[in-house]
This record gives sequence, structure tokens and C-alpha cells, in this order.
Amino acid sequence: MSIGIIGAGALGSNFARALAKSGISATISNSRGPDSLVSLVNELGTSIKAGTVQEAASADIVLVAVRWVDAERVLDGLPAWNGRIVIDGTNPVEFIDPASPDANDPTNPLAVYGIKAVDLGGKHSSQIIRQFVPGARLVKAFNDLNADGLLQPAVAGGRRVLFYSGDDADAKIQVRQVIDASGFFPVDLGALDVGGPLASLNGPLSAHNFVRVS
Ligand SMILES: NC(=O)c1ccc[n+]([C@@H]2O[C@H](COP(=O)([O-])OP(=O)(O)OC[C@H]3O[C@@H](n4cnc5c(N)ncnc54)[C@H](OP(=O)(O)O)[C@@H]3O)[C@@H](O)[C@H]2O)c1
Repeated sequence: MSIGIIGAGALGSNFARALAKSGISATISNSRGPDSLVSLVNELGTSIKAGTVQEAASADIVLVAVRWVDAERVLDGLPAWNGRIVIDGTNPVEFIDPASPDANDPTNPLAVYGIKAVDLGGKHSSQIIRQFVPGARLVKAFNDLNADGLLQPAVAGGRRVLFYSGDDADAKIQVRQVIDASGFFPVDLGALDVGGPLASLNGPLSAHNFVRVS
């Protein structure tokens, strides 16, 4: 089973770090090409390789770790998915112009971080990502915590919980195995339409650090 990562920012690079710590192989990509990722892959060791977006997108399991505003453009024109697994790690947020009234919107709890939720017209984000990856088996995961949490699976005497949801049982098993093998405690939130909103931005399970202590 191969793993590809599209996006090498906070989420993509820390996902790669989590895999590397457990010796799991992956190909990571960004907008600027593999040469720009030399220092990252040198840091991570031999299990993580830099590749083009096309190469990363050809893996059996592909994490989408790009900003919401870039997702449609990035996912357009990639190799046919043919039942391969896409992990949607995105959150539907956009950056606020510090000079705009949005920067001081008292109704926006995210304004302090310089971001605001994108209006999805009542849909949840994976309903939209699903349209960008026709033929893929979509699993929502790795989106509910600050990416720094991926650097430390063992915490407070237990394993940090990572939620996942999706509509394909086998795809979820495979993503669960990646979460588990990386040292985290996987929790299945059910179907995409149920688990997606629960762990999405502003959902009740988002941005909390749950730890499985056993
Ligand atoms: N940051 C977090 O703590 C966190 C936590 C959970 C979920 N998320 C979600 O994860 C996603 C990524 O967030 P982030 O904070 O990692 O963003 P980021 O640090 O800005 O990184 C975005 C990455 O996307 C790449 N990218 C942009 N356009 C591309 C293209 N056309 N082809 C390939 N790669 C492209 C960028 O490439 P370059 O480096 O070449 O510009 C960059 O590596 C967002 O949807 C966010 O909501 C973030």
C-alpha cells in the first residue's frame, strides 16, 4: 500500500513526520516541485520521498492537505481515482484581510487566528471535496486537530485520538490502520455525512485533544 501527500505545509509535513517516525513510506508533494522539498525529506529519512503532485496523487491512499481555496484547482486533472482512497484533511476556512471589517467580527471565534469559515451553503466540506475526486473512496481524517498534534501521538499517558469517517468500509479500515500504525488512537465516527460535520471546523469534536488512556 502506497501513500501520497498533496500539500507540504503544516498539515502535510507533520503527517509525513508522523509516518516517518513509524517507518511508513510516503511521497510528499507541493506546488513548487520536489526540489523545494529536499530539506524536509532529508530531515525525515528514507521512508519519505519528494515527488510531483501527479506522483503523490497516484498512490493507493492520498492525503489532501491544501488550503480550501486551492482544493478544486489542485484536484482537477489528476490521474483517475478508480476506487483509490482519498483522505480529506481540509477545513473550509479562508484568510481574512487584516484591514477588512471581518478582522474584528465579534461573531467569528476564528478571527483571532486571522481566518473565517467559508460559507458552504449548508453543505459539509467533504460533500464538496467528494465532487472534486470522482471515483475515489473518500475518508475524512486528520483535519480536526492543530497539525502540531501530529508530532506527538503519545500524550498524557495515552494515545492521542484521531477521528475518521467515510462511506466505504474497506477504505476506512485502511485509513484506520495508518492512524493506528502512526501511534494514534483511531475513532470511527461513521458515515461521511455523520462524522464529517462532527469533526469539521466548529463541529462538536473539532479542535479538542482527546486522549485514549488504557
Ligand atoms: N495547519 C493546521 O494546523 C491544520 C490542521 C488540520 C487541518 N488543516 C487543513 O489542512 C489544509 C492545509 O493547511 P496547512 O495549514 O497545511 O496549509 P499551508 O501550510 O498553507 O500548506 C498548504 C500546502 O498546499 C500546497 N499547495 C498549494 N497549491 C498547490 C498545488 N497547486 N499543488 C500542490 N500543492 C499545492 C502548498 O505548496 P507550497 O508549499 O509549494 O506553497 C503548501 O505546501 C487546509 O485545508 C487546512 O484547513 C490544517
